[in-house]
Amino acid sequence: MEALENILNRRSIRRYTDQPITDEDLHKILEAAMSGPSCVNARDYSFIVVRDEETLLKMAEANGRPAQPLKKAAAGILVLGDLDRAFKGAPDYWIIDGAIACENLILAANALGIGSVWLGTYPQENRVENLKKLFDLPDNIIPHSIIALGYPDEQPTRKGFYEEDRVHFEKW
Ligand SMILES: Cc1cc2nc3c(=O)[nH]c(=O)nc-3n(C[C@H](O)[C@H](O)[C@H](O)COP(=O)(O)O)c2cc1C
Repeated sequence: MEALENILNRRSIRRYTDQPITDEDLHKILEAAMSGPSCVNARDYSFIVVRDEETLLKMAEANGRPAQPLKKAAAGILVLGDLDRAFKGAPDYWIIDGAIACENLILAANALGIGSVWLGTYPQENRVENLKKLFDLPDNIIPHSIIALGYPDEQPTRKGFYEEDRVHFEKW
């Protein structure tokens, strides 16, 4: 798929078929997630890939009601920040680096015909704590977001996102 078309056509997918995602495709998706820019090239993220149905249900519960799509997903990827790897001068960049990883991940999935929805975790403290407990994470590893993945069982229409009044040239 052409790169710009991939960005413009992507929509959140919350309903999935039963088709599993191959290891090969998961690898491509994770490679894309790790291929974005990160502050001082800290690459301060890690991932937990979950395909086990029971664990997906527990993740959905841990991440609150808007995380329901996970219950029927082929896979869920928990994107984690790693504070030990974060830029010491401004560690909060881990949040931005994690978001870039998420966006690359969902764009790679879309390019492979795999639907996804981003399920926000950080900075909602209860979700962060629930997921830390569920996966018994060390202190330096912080849940950032969950990406639910699966072959689309819905086809949301493309929407035009460009808004003239958001753009300023040369001055505010
Ligand atoms: C940080 C973040 C958190 C989100 N959390 C959720 C969520 O918990 N549940 C959900 O169904 N969608 C979630 N979304 C998806 C947005 O609702 C969706 O991207 C937005 O409505 C625009 O629709 P589109 O992705 O189809 O363009 C989240 C998106 C982002 C970027």
